[in-house]
Amino acid sequence: TIHPVILSGGSGTRLWPLSRAALPKQLLPLASERSLLQDTVLRLADFPDMAAPLMVCNVEHRFMIAEQMRQIGVHPSAIVLEPVGRNTAPAIAVAALRLSREDADALMLVLPADHLIGDIAAFHAAITRAADAAKHGYLATFGIVAATPETGYGYIRKGDALAEAAGAHAVAGFVEKPDLATAQQYVASGDYFWNSGMFLFRASDFLKELETLRPDILSASRAALDAAKPDLDFVRLDPVAFEACPSESVDYAVMEHTRRAAVVPADIGWNDIGAWSALWEVAEKDAAGNAVRGDVMLENAANNFVRAETRMVAMLGVSDLVVVETADVVLVANRDQVQDVKKLVDRLKAAK
Ligand code: GDD
Ligand code: MG
Repeated sequence: TIHPVILSGGSGTRLWPLSRAALPKQLLPLASERSLLQDTVLRLADFPDMAAPLMVCNVEHRFMIAEQMRQIGVHPSAIVLEPVGRNTAPAIAVAALRLSREDADALMLVLPADHLIGDIAAFHAAITRAADAAKHGYLATFGIVAATPETGYGYIRKGDALAEAAGAHAVAGFVEKPDLATAQQYVASGDYFWNSGMFLFRASDFLKELETLRPDILSASRAALDAAKPDLDFVRLDPVAFEACPSESVDYAVMEHTRRAAVVPADIGWNDIGAWSALWEVAEKDAAGNAVRGDVMLENAANNFVRAETRMVAMLGVSDLVVVETADVVLVANRDQVQDVKKLVDRLKAAK
């Protein structure tokens, strides 16, 4: 049995103005009629012997997440509620601690709630290979061929093939979010994968590594879970204990330092839709390369991404734009500068 652990704590600021703190991208229907979170869970539906998912999310989103799971007929084993975000290391620690109450060696498949995967059969095959490595004590990562020197990713250097687990390699190095020059060097070398942000390991192995590398995170997470209050289907982490936990991603806290990491190459049509341009890339487009959703009228317009939520959007003689219309904000951006939407959000936050 494999236990999916779904991380749904991010806020997806680069997909503003649709993605907001109150309604982050994973809860939105961005790529299909279902939300990214729903698609994440449904993608596992026909994998044999997959347990009910364990969700870890911010307390503010609990009803939306419960409702979205109800809509697709999925009953999570629990929805663990964080009073504040402490990044992914504590979120995964709490999930591992909870699962290990039933079975210390429970296999956990950690999944971000906000990614797209195009090739489900290949994804399932990669899970099988990663589970094999995890059963031999490895912390398995899923490596995506590093095609461009993206600085927002972790980079994994492939080591020797593992004798114990077919299709998996040792990890010769893991560098989270390198600078551009380093990323360029990695891509040119051809020896590196991007870390997809998905992991598969035994709860016991993860907790052992965390104990060695970051005992502070482990003890704060344990305290928060031990003092948690059950509330309907929710598990409310103790606010005082969890707020005291250091905020750190699993990549910096564990994956960069562990010697037990393995990588399974995964050619699965992966996309983490970091920004609007990524959605344009994966969307269906008209003959002129426009991807539109909602009430949109185009004349002599090419290669635009347009999303109209509440009003008609009409565009004439423009190309390579991102236009996102919502009730209170209209974003108009150059398609290759949408990484910087975050700068707008930061200015808004500063002005508040
Ligand atoms: N429950 C919970 N609590 N979930 C969280 C929290 C939190 O405090 N913070 C982030 N998450 C969730 C996000 O919603 C997302 O699904 C996932 O954890 C990863 O967090 P991101 O904030 O999106 O990480 P990242 O994109 O900067 O980097 C990670 O993903 C890259 C691939 O997309 C790393 O694993 C990189 O190494 C990797 O390349
Ligand atoms: Mg991300």
